Amino acid sequence: MLFDTHAHYDAEEYSQDRDGVLAALPEMEVGLAVNPGCNIPSSKAAVELARKWPFLYAAVGYHPENCGPYRPEDLDVLRELAREPKAVAIGEIGLDYYWEENPPKEHQLRVFRDQMALAQELDMPVIVHDRDAHADSLAVVREFPGVRGVFHCYSGSAEMARELVKLGWMISFTGVLTYKNARKAVEAAQAVPLDRLMIETDSPYMAPVPYRGKRNHSGYVRYVCERLAELKGVSFEECARITMENGKRFFGIA
Ligand code: NI
Repeated sequence: MLFDTHAHYDAEEYSQDRDGVLAALPEMEVGLAVNPGCNIPSSKAAVELARKWPFLYAAVGYHPENCGPYRPEDLDVLRELAREPKAVAIGEIGLDYYWEENPPKEHQLRVFRDQMALAQELDMPVIVHDRDAHADSLAVVREFPGVRGVFHCYSGSAEMARELVKLGWMISFTGVLTYKNARKAVEAAQAVPLDRLMIETDSPYMAPVPYRGKRNHSGYVRYVCERLAELKGVSFEECARITMENGKRFFGIA
């Protein structure tokens, strides 16, 4: 069975057929999946979906692209949502300097830090989104040595991945690993020990080859697992087993 550690089933891309897509996943060897939130309504939706689907778990948080409306009192709502039995992480949180229309850096940094502090308070892991903000993301990670987390859809260097591993963090890869131009992600995957790696789809985005450009779902996490197995020199079954164990250990799922 496979563990898709990052998929957004509350996204509008599934508004027509959400139940059908989710119901089909166990037959596609998907044993577990985590649905991160991107703002308050999305975090609530993630929790609702996790209540409904036995294999689905939730994370709650403000995504950097969506953090414009964030106010400190939102932390109380997130804290409450995080107490749900199937809420397993604070996420996705982090920094995104790629899009010019994103909230200002200072605001993103504040929201990121506030949520890292919440994770520390609740003793929960975090799911970090870092796009074109590698140095600042690593700096915030270092400010919270008591917080452990995962860099999802990893896009940093192999050197930074080694640094994160040293700090006790996990690294997760999407279908990007299957793309022809994925040299950087491939090097990073090779640099990280197998017991620190997780796999994900980031559905509905980032569909792996041979479905690149199409709507993604957790069933396609097998293509990420296949590619990672190839890069690490282990069998598909071994890679599936280890990434499943890593995910369960990281998110505290029995
Ligand atoms: Ni995401």
